[in-house]
Amino acid sequence: MSADFSPSCVLVTGGAGFIGSNFVHTVLAEQADLTVINLDNLTYAGNLSNLASLKGDRRHVFVRGDVADADLVASLLTEHRPQALVHFAAESHVDRSIHGPDDFLRTNVQGTFNLLECARAHAQQLAPGGFRYLQVSTDEVYGSLEPDAPPFTEQHRYEPNSPYSATKAAADHLARAWHHTYGLPVLTTNCSNNYGPYHFPEKLIPLVIHRALLGQALPIYGDGQQVRDWLYVQDHCRAVWRVLQAGVPGETYNIGGWNEKTNLDVVRTLCAALDEMSPRADGQSYAQQITFVADRPGHDRRYAIDARKIERELGWRPQETFESGIRKTVRWFLDHPDWVRDVTSGAYRQWVSQQYGAESV
Ligand code: NAD
Ligand code: DAU
Repeated sequence: MSADFSPSCVLVTGGAGFIGSNFVHTVLAEQADLTVINLDNLTYAGNLSNLASLKGDRRHVFVRGDVADADLVASLLTEHRPQALVHFAAESHVDRSIHGPDDFLRTNVQGTFNLLECARAHAQQLAPGGFRYLQVSTDEVYGSLEPDAPPFTEQHRYEPNSPYSATKAAADHLARAWHHTYGLPVLTTNCSNNYGPYHFPEKLIPLVIHRALLGQALPIYGDGQQVRDWLYVQDHCRAVWRVLQAGVPGETYNIGGWNEKTNLDVVRTLCAALDEMSPRADGQSYAQQITFVADRPGHDRRYAIDARKIERELGWRPQETFESGIRKTVRWFLDHPDWVRDVTSGAYRQWVSQQYGAESV
């Protein structure tokens, strides 16, 4: 069996966002000799405070810039000569893609195209097998499952339904083509819904924790019976690193937690955890704040991931159960009110007003 691919320098894109920042923390904690070049243009979803504890660590080099900037990306590759590029940067929020898809086309499609082209030129300067490109994708590209259908395997055809998932699918197809046509060593991962520290509070789990503690309504779209598969973010990060180390170029790997839950169940679980860990002053349950609101247009009914390939071929398994991961997440949000306050000022309030109505802010 060949030795694992073991880069000493990795270019990470989107490393100031939710999953990217968790990835940077996780790999730097576990790989003593690794340097991470972190390229992020700090959109509303990117926060340098996610990386504050790395201040002074010379193994982390932050560069503010756009993944679609060809000159910048080429110069970073020439200067640092990374052996891998792990591409997290994206516009990632389905609801925002419905209100305004333009940025999704630019970052997710044009940005990925630019990275692939720069990576192709860079890989040609290195010895064969000396470089890997990892495309971080999502289960949403597979579309929506019927209630009794088997979970998505890597063979499931792409059927994206939202502007967000359509742009992610387009990016994945580009990455596939750059492997097939140019021989770029591309690995692709398709992961289910993540949750955990640094999760921006426009997504369901952090939004519910944040609003519950403020005594605000907890908005459930439609009937709340939509199903998602949930994975603790550090389990996703370890899976991405494992694929980078030992995956076969040209292959895709599904990543998931075997945790299918309806949205209503997720919100009730969060309310129960909060009832125990930070009870309401009036002794009532946070579940009383649950409110049903208009459904998301085109809302996918069910996602589920079959993660047997990565488990079997690369030996990866999630370390957290849904119950342990949710408790860690609630604890993290209770312990980091300053982070929540910083990221929910200004533009965040405008978004909540646009999405849920002015009275909800
Ligand atoms: P996020 O929105 O929290 O973070 C995205 C990061 O990318 C931000 O730091 C932002 O500033 C940066 N960025 C955006 N546009 C950029 C540009 N043009 N140039 C440079 N940086 C830019 O997203 P996330 O939830 O951390 O998701 C990261 C990746 O994982 C995405 O590719 C997403 O599709 C994928 N993914 C997410 C989930 C999930 O549950 N959140 C699940 C599966 C896959
Ligand atoms: O499946 C992976 C995807 O998970 C990633 O590719 C995306 O980047 C990530 O944002 C996430 O997408 P979702 O649309 O599934 O996540 P979100 O947290 O926005 O919503 C989760 C579910 O909860 C979804 O069915 C919509 C519902 N929801 C969401 C919000 C924000 C509500 O019912 N109420 C809400 O207020």
